[in-house]
Parts: sequence; C-alpha cells; structure tokens
Amino acid sequence: MYIYKAAVIGAGTMGAGIAQVVTYSGLPVILKDVNQEAVDRGLATVRKIYQNRVDKGKMTASEMDQKMALVSGATDFSGFSDVDIVIEAIYEDVSVKQKLFQELEKICPEGTIFASNTSSLPISAIASAIQKPDKMIGMHFFNPAPVMKLVEVIPGLGTSEETIDDVVLFSESLRKIPIRVQECAGFLVNRLLMPYLNEAALALQEGAASAKEIDTALTEFGMPMGPLTLFDMVGIDVSVKVSDILHDAYGPRATAAEILRALEKANRLGVKNGAGFYTYNEEPKESLETLIEKVNAASASSKGFSANRLIMPMINEAVISLQEGVASAEDIDIAMMAGTGFPQDKGGPLHYADQIGVDVVLSELESLKENHGDRFWPAPMIKRMVQGGYLGKKSGKGFFQY
Ligand code: 3HC
Repeated sequence: MYIYKAAVIGAGTMGAGIAQVVTYSGLPVILKDVNQEAVDRGLATVRKIYQNRVDKGKMTASEMDQKMALVSGATDFSGFSDVDIVIEAIYEDVSVKQKLFQELEKICPEGTIFASNTSSLPISAIASAIQKPDKMIGMHFFNPAPVMKLVEVIPGLGTSEETIDDVVLFSESLRKIPIRVQECAGFLVNRLLMPYLNEAALALQEGAASAKEIDTALTEFGMPMGPLTLFDMVGIDVSVKVSDILHDAYGPRATAAEILRALEKANRLGVKNGAGFYTYNEEPKESLETLIEKVNAASASSKGFSANRLIMPMINEAVISLQEGVASAEDIDIAMMAGTGFPQDKGGPLHYADQIGVDVVLSELESLKENHGDRFWPAPMIKRMVQGGYLGKKSGKGFFQY
C-alpha cells in the first residue's frame, strides 16, 4: 500500500519530531493533540527544527514554508477520513492507547495502518482491543527523532506480513533504517540501552564516580553523549517507566537504580523541566548531592568504576536477545549504532565483543559479577562460544566470521 497521508497523535517532543520527519520526506501529516495549546507547541517544535536548518544555511526560508505547509494541527479527528497511517505517540498507558485506536477504527479508512511509537508496551496487548490487529504495529523512533536513523518495526502476534512490509517501506521513504524486531519488553534498543544507563545511575549513587566522570568515561569510549546526559534528554520519568517494564519482564537484573526514583520524586525529570542529573535552569530543587546522600545510605559503598561496567551489561543483554531470536547479530549492531550512536568504528556491541575477544567479555562479566552482583551473570551463549573456540576476531569466528 502506498502511503499518501499520515497522522501523528501526540504533539510532544517525539510526536512533533516524527511529524517533522514525515513532512521532510514530502508527505502531508496531521499533528493531533487534545487541546490547541499542545498542538501549537508541537507545531512550534516542528518549525524550530526547520528554522535551525535555515539558520545553518541547510535550507531556504521558502523551502521551510513549503515543508510547514505539509503539517496541519488538529484537536479532533475531522481530517482522518483519508489517512493511510496513524502514528501514535501519546502517554504510555495500554488502556489509553487501546481506547484511542478503538476510536480511530471507527473513523479511518479500512486499510489504515495503526502504528504505535510506544517505548516498550506490548503491541499485541494494544492490538487485542481492536477489530483489525493485522493492521497494528510498533514503529519506534528514537530521540531526537529527526536525527536518529533507526526505526524499530515491531509486529504484534496478529500483525500481517503486508503491514510489516508497508511500514518497512514507509520507514525507508522517511530516510530511516527500519529494523524488524521480535516483540519483547523494551524491544531491542531499550532492552540493551537500559542496563547500560542504569549501571551509570548505580555507579553514581554508590559514589563510585561523579556524574561528570561517568559521562566523560563513556564519551571517551565513543558514545555521542554521556549516559547521565542521555537520561536527562530521554526524561527521568520515561526512563523509570521503561525500567519498570523491563524489571517486570526480566526480573532482578533489571532493577532500576534508586536514584532514578529519587530524582523523579524531587521533580527533576531532565532537560524538559530544567533539572535531572544536571541542572539546566535556576529553579530551586532538591540537589543531586542531597538525593545521592539519601539513597546512598541504603546502598553498597563504592566498588570502582570503568566504562566496562556499562558496556559489558549492554553486550550481555545483546547476547541474551540474540539467543532469544529478538533480532540477528547484524541487526542488533546496526540498531545500536543507528538508534543510540554506538561508535561506528567499534561496529556495534557484538562486533565490539568480537574485537576485544569473547573470552575477555566473559572474564570481565565474571569479575563484575564478583564485585557488583548477579545482574552481570554472563549469558549462557557467551560461555558456550568460549568453550567452542568462538573467541571473535583472534580465532576467525565469533558473533561474525572473519
Ligand atoms: N532535534 C532536531 N535536530 C537535532 C536535535 C533535536 N533535538 N538535536 C540535535 N539535532 C541536530 C543538530 O541540529 C545537528 O544537525 P546538523 O548535522 O544538520 O547540523 C545534528 O543533530 C547534530 O547535533 P549537534 O552537533 O548539536 O550535537 P551532536 O553531534 O552532539 O549530536 C545527538 C546530538 C544527535 C543528540 C547525539 O548526541 C546523539 O546521537 N546522542 C545519543 C542519542 C540517543 O541515544 N538516543 C536514543 C535515546 S533512547 C530513545 O529515544 C528510546 C525511547 O523509547 C526512550
């Protein structure tokens, strides 16, 4: 099916970013939210993204106007009778999303694709409430949507192959890299990113290193931004929500660091409200130091810090996901580079494991387990590979062939 017109529901940062991406590809899009104020804010966000490009000389003001003419704001569904795809980017609540799609089914044409940009809610659960689950799919963009190349395409149990193909082609037409991911909590990228981010928060609350030291160690590794800066960009509240979903699915190894809840309670939600791990405005809020002191009383004392403490659990979760068939080794690496900026020269977590040696990954995980606990328990596949001589580049075979 060719997509001539799209709609995005939810005009927050992600929704507005997605609407910008759609218009940039030349397609008309409706940006809908519940009230005019939210819609206006969303439209202003889209304009700001284009204005930045104009300011940098990457497009002319009249080109910007042409792109802006493609996006129309809405507070109701009156323009939805001819949309080919709806991308939902609203509050993370299954029943709210179900109600929305039930309403959309009554309004949209027979063939409309219903895509959810949920970070980690099950697509099959959302689809269970609608008449045409074959048309429902996950289409997960990454923040900032105009920049990050990845779109995770997540079929639910009832999604048809035709819908998957349509969304893959549509994502390509948006100049994105679509990666098909098997449905699981956190899908692929959040599932691998959260253990990495959470470990940064744990190291900080233990006093193993300062926020700056942790962020610097990871930017020196080659990540585009430090993990605590990234937490602030994604939002502490969103991160807590994703962490809880992961904990529910994967158990103790995915327990969220207490400092995250302390920050949320102190209304330090990240860049969006002026303070998170870092402070972005003058508004007085409980300081990070006070919050660390509070949670530190209940947690272990410092046991050292290195970038490996964050990278190894990411590799480990990549291997567990590979074992489960969530995605291929190739796709896991592409997704982490395109979705999080994992350094290109390291080729993604699994190529990186092959570079340093799968046996080295195993011994690093064993030692982290010894020092910090069972959340570092090595994936069975890693042990099997080492026993079988699949050590990575040095033995000519690992996650890839050399
Ligand atoms: N919106 C639009 N464009 C933006 C932007 C934004 N919010 N932030 C940056 N950009 C653009 C800039 O305009 C610039 O464009 P140009 O190349 O045309 O000039 C380009 O991106 C690079 O920006 P900068 O030079 O200012 O800064 P950096 O090179 O440091 O890049 C970054 C910024 C792209 C955010 C980079 O730091 C990065 O890749 N960070 C990692 C982000 C990440 O991991 N995202 C995934 C989060 S997880 C998630 O979203 C899942 C969800 O479910 C929780």
